[in-house]
Order: sequence, then C-alpha cells, then structure tokens
Amino acid sequence: MTSKEIRRKYLTFFKERDHLVIPPSPLVLAEDPTTLFTSSGMQPLVPYLLGEAHPSGKKRLTDSQPSLRLGDIEEVGDNRHTTFFEMLGNWSLGDYFKAEQLPWFLEFLTKELGLVKEKLWVSVFKGDKTTGVPRDEESFTIWKSLGIPEEKIVFYGVKKNWWSRSGEPTLMPVGEIGGPDSEVFYEFADVPHDPKFSETCHPNCDCGRFLEIGNSVFIQYQKTTDNSLKELSQKNVDFGGGLERLAAATSDNPDIFQTDLFLPIIKRLENLSGRNYLQDPETTRGMRIVADHLRASLMIAKDGVLPSNKTQGYVLRRLSRRLLLFSRNLSLSSPEVFLPDLIKEVVKTYDDIFPDLVGKERAISEIFSEEASRFAKTLEAGLKEIEKLEKLDGKIAFYLYESFGFPWDMISEIARERGEEINFQDFEEEKEKHQALSREAAQGLFKGGLVDQSYEVTKLHTATHLLHQALRQVLNEQARQEGSNITAERLRFDFSHPAKLTPEELKRVEDLVNEQIAKNLIVTETVQNLSTALASGARAFFREKYPERVKVYSIGPATLRQSSGQARSGPPFSQEICGGPHVASTKELGRFRIIKEEAVAQGVRRIKAVLEKV
Ligand code: SER
Repeated sequence: MTSKEIRRKYLTFFKERDHLVIPPSPLVLAEDPTTLFTSSGMQPLVPYLLGEAHPSGKKRLTDSQPSLRLGDIEEVGDNRHTTFFEMLGNWSLGDYFKAEQLPWFLEFLTKELGLVKEKLWVSVFKGDKTTGVPRDEESFTIWKSLGIPEEKIVFYGVKKNWWSRSGEPTLMPVGEIGGPDSEVFYEFADVPHDPKFSETCHPNCDCGRFLEIGNSVFIQYQKTTDNSLKELSQKNVDFGGGLERLAAATSDNPDIFQTDLFLPIIKRLENLSGRNYLQDPETTRGMRIVADHLRASLMIAKDGVLPSNKTQGYVLRRLSRRLLLFSRNLSLSSPEVFLPDLIKEVVKTYDDIFPDLVGKERAISEIFSEEASRFAKTLEAGLKEIEKLEKLDGKIAFYLYESFGFPWDMISEIARERGEEINFQDFEEEKEKHQALSREAAQGLFKGGLVDQSYEVTKLHTATHLLHQALRQVLNEQARQEGSNITAERLRFDFSHPAKLTPEELKRVEDLVNEQIAKNLIVTETVQNLSTALASGARAFFREKYPERVKVYSIGPATLRQSSGQARSGPPFSQEICGGPHVASTKELGRFRIIKEEAVAQGVRRIKAVLEKV
C-alpha cells in the first residue's frame, strides 16, 4: 500500500464517521511568535479544545498535518526518527470519547491497513498520585473487549502516557492543556530484542522491536495557577499518528527510510554516490540523515524561510549544513550537481498534497546552493582558525562544532593529524551543557507566550491589521503580508515592496494608522464562509490554506452622527481573516509609531513599530 493510499484511506475513514476534513496549518507559523514550527496537529486547534466553537460549527475534525520536531535531531540516523513528519489526526471537540476513538483506530489499522491484530500492543495511563489523575481503567476495559490480550496492554506513568506540548504535568506551564493517552505499537517480530536497552522487551523499549504508530490523547485537563490540574469544560480526543510509521508498519519493515516516502531519495543517493544504502552502518546512517534533513529543509524553505542566524532561518541553516556535511561523507561534494536531483525526488513524492512545492524547485535549489557556498567559506575559515590554535581540546571541539558545523569526527581527525588527542567525553559534556541551555531557552519561548493573549500583544495585533491596510493604501495593493511577529514590546511586519520606503511614505503610513485610532473604530468579529469573506475583500494570508468557515475581523466602519441625527457608516477600514484576539475598539491603542524600516530579502521590507501611551 502506498503512503498516498494510507493518507487517503485515513481521511476517508474519518470523513465517513462525520468528521470534517480540514486543511493543515502551514509548517511555519506566520502569526504565532511563540512557536517556530507546527509540531503537532492539535497546535492550531487549541482554542477549540478549550471550548471555543470551531468556525465550521463541527465538533469532529480530521487532517494530515506537516510537523517538525527538532528535539530528535541527534537521533535521526536510526531506522525510525525524523525531524519532519506528517501527522494524521482526528479530533473530538467535546464530542465522542474513548468508547468511539479506540475501536475506530483499531478498525482503521486492521480493516483499512490490513495490519494483523496479533502484532499490536497498547499502552494505557497507570495513574499519578501527584496530580490525582486516576488509572485509565476505561481504556483498559475497552482494549480488552476489542480482543487485545491483557498481557499486551501495558500501563505506564506520566513520562510515557501523558501528553501535552510540554510533556508531563509538572512541566506544563499555566494554561497548557493535556491529558492521559493510550498508544498503539506495532511489533516487528523479526527484530530481536537488544538487552542493551532493557532486561526484557516492552512497547516503550528503544531496541526497535516495537514502533509507536498512534496516540489517542484524552485532553481533559488544564494547568492552573496553583500548579494543579483542573478538568476542562469538555472532554476532547486528540489523535495523532505518523504517516511514515504507519507506512512502515503496513509494509512490515521497521525501516521507515524504506517506505515510498523516502525510498526514491535513498535510491537517488545510491546512484549519485555509487554506494549501497545497506553496505555499512555509516553509509546507512548518512543517507538517512541526508534524506531526512533534505525533506525538512525543503518544507521549511517552501514556506518562505531563508537561511539566517535567527529563529526559523537558523533551523533551516542548521539542517541544510548538516545535510551538506553528511553528503560530503558520502563523497557527494558538488551540491550544485546533486541537490537539484534530490529535490526533484522529494517534490514528486508530495506533488499531490503540497502543490505549492511544484514550481519552486528552482528557487529552492538556488537557496541551497547559495547556502552551500557560504558554508564552504565558513569551513575554510574554520580550518584557518584551527591552524591558529595551539592546542585543541573538548571545549574548542564543541565551539568548532557549534560555530562552524565541524562534526566531531572531522575535528578529531584534524587533531590526530596534528599529533594531538581530544577527549570525546569533554566534547560531549560541553554539548550536553549547551543542549540543556537551549532546551531551557526553547521552553522559555514556549512558556513566555504559550497563549500570549496578553493585552499588550492583543493591542499590537490590532495595530498590525491597521498597518497592513495603511501600507496598501499608501504604497499600493501589492504591499502584501509576508510575515508577522509580535512580542509584548513591538510588532514586526514583513511585506512585499520593491523599494525602501521614503520618509514621506513612512509618515503617511504612520498618520493613516493614527487617524484610524483617533476615529475610535469598533473591531468586530464574524464567522463567514471563506468564499463570502474573500468576495467581500477580506485579506487572507496567501501562504495559508483556510477552512471553509473562517473568522473575520473588521476594523470600522466609523459611525458618524450627521447633523440630521442619522448615523452614517462606510466600509470597514480593514478586514482580515484571522484567529484573533483583538481589542474592542481602536482608541485603546494609544499612539502608533514606526521605529524601523529595513530590507529582509529581495523585494521584502520589514517594519517594526510600537504603541505609545498618550
Ligand atoms: N498531540 C498528540 C501527539 O502529538 C496526538 O495528536 O502525539
């Protein structure tokens, strides 16, 4: 069965059970300053899991969500970890619960994918004293009634059978939602247990005999300010299953890199390098890393990100440089030759679900080759730097690794040539320290703005809509949003425009926004059909695919009392499809001031602006 069929079967299965198939969110979230990438299907649905009505009016949703998780980057290279993946998802927004979800998923696995029930194991939440969340007897009973033998139903605690975006309950920031979950595992009977991982094998053992293929999360709790969990007003189901893994289970081969999602890339790598994928562990690992990083980089670049030293751009840079390094190890040293070939293979695999990838091959190849030549220069600079150093040690090795992307092997090889030796342990320790720091930083980013609906951010969000419209009026209709990022201090808005803005233009934009603020325009929220919204001129963000029913925020019209006493109103100043939230009226904003205007890329300008108290 091809992965295209698996995806189609899954969506059809849930559509037949009254689910609305919703378009996935973009991988790169333009409007969300708190997370760099979409990392799960539930992420864009949080307001609805919290109880807000979904614009479609539906309580059952399904989709296939492109996701990126960087936490596993060091593990990529084994047969099952990837950074980018596609997550098949279905949701109950306070509608059905365990009694429907668990049988449905089992039915999908056995009847639609034809998996043998005897190879399936499940895990269930064993309960947690600290939070008082009880053992999940209900799921246990359901699995048993479905014919899963008791010995294949394994109980685990919060570390394995609790899901929230930040992990177990103690790690959840205030406001975050989550709950106990029940996972399904596929057993690859031909993979022998490796006692290196645990004495006896079990579904969560890392030896590779078991592969998790789906996770039903019962989102029914929210973290409160006193650090306990409160029950949400509704009980939700959040199911996610990795398409790559489902494909591996369906083909009864534990190596996801041999599914049709990766095989064309691997085959092309074999042709280009003259090596065989399975010839030795280093080649296998290298090809997996190149295949994974290539796919991930492409998906990020497709969403308009360019390599840089910050946020999403940094991730793209890191992935593409690792990709280049591992290609060198496979004796592929001319990126301008091999990259376009590899890119074509990825595009072919996804031309049906990511049509926006088609036609971008050229542009993406160029991004990669520019990055490759910058990287070549960096490597050269790194080598020069090494020459200047009197002595190499673990700390320096880590610095070279982090700043120049020199892999450990390369550094220790250079040391060997110089007749020196570096302690690998020191290097690892330094890396650990750094990873702990970046984990903290990432969590801070997450915590800091998890649901940053603070008043400052909300005000700047409304100001962003005013700015967008003002730019279109002062410059022209081509001044289109390319990106937006808001912190509590300032807004940042990227838009397409060929030239630097003149001081006069900037002043006119600023004045126009301040005039709207002074008019005390009312901000209204309506839910409309996408086609109606677009027909009435509501701005849509071109990169995003929207569902059929959308929220539209309108600013204005101003209601003016005429001398006759009659109210007169015009069209709204701004109208955008947007998830909100926004302030109620523009007078709350204070004074709008542009603090910077600069270029971010060819034809893309950036404005930073603040709101000042008056
Ligand atoms: N949110 C859960 C996960 O990401 C299930 O969709 O695993």
